[in-house]
Amino acid sequence: MNKNTMIAIVAGVVVIAGVSVWFFVAPKSPTENSTNTTTAEITQNNSPAIDMTEAPVVEVKIQDFKYSPANITVKKGTTVIWTNEDNDGHNVVSNTGTIPGGPPAEAPLLGQHQQFSFTYDVVGTFDYHCTPHPFMAGTVTVVD
Ligand code: CO
Repeated sequence: MNKNTMIAIVAGVVVIAGVSVWFFVAPKSPTENSTNTTTAEITQNNSPAIDMTEAPVVEVKIQDFKYSPANITVKKGTTVIWTNEDNDGHNVVSNTGTIPGGPPAEAPLLGQHQQFSFTYDVVGTFDYHCTPHPFMAGTVTVVD
């Protein structure tokens, strides 16, 4: 075996070893950004419910890409007013779009300081989210 053959074999082994190591340590490709909201992308709202059954009008702030408070319990007939404090546009959209008493399926995007309100006349639990940011999740529970 001459010197050139040895170099070729060593080079081949190095390349194969390198490819094998890369196969295990290569970073995963980043998750694709989606432009459409699907039900699967909507985050579950697990924040504790705030009892607001004493208030006829309840205000929810939209700030730093969060609804605050995100999870409220209100009495039937209560008007909930959302105010967007962010520069970015947000909205309030029912997760199902069809539950009576929930916010309409197509709510307008709110600019900064703009408000959206809805009066809950039906008892139930209504989950909502923000169309451009499905990780923004909120819940209104309406009781008698
Ligand atoms: Co949003």
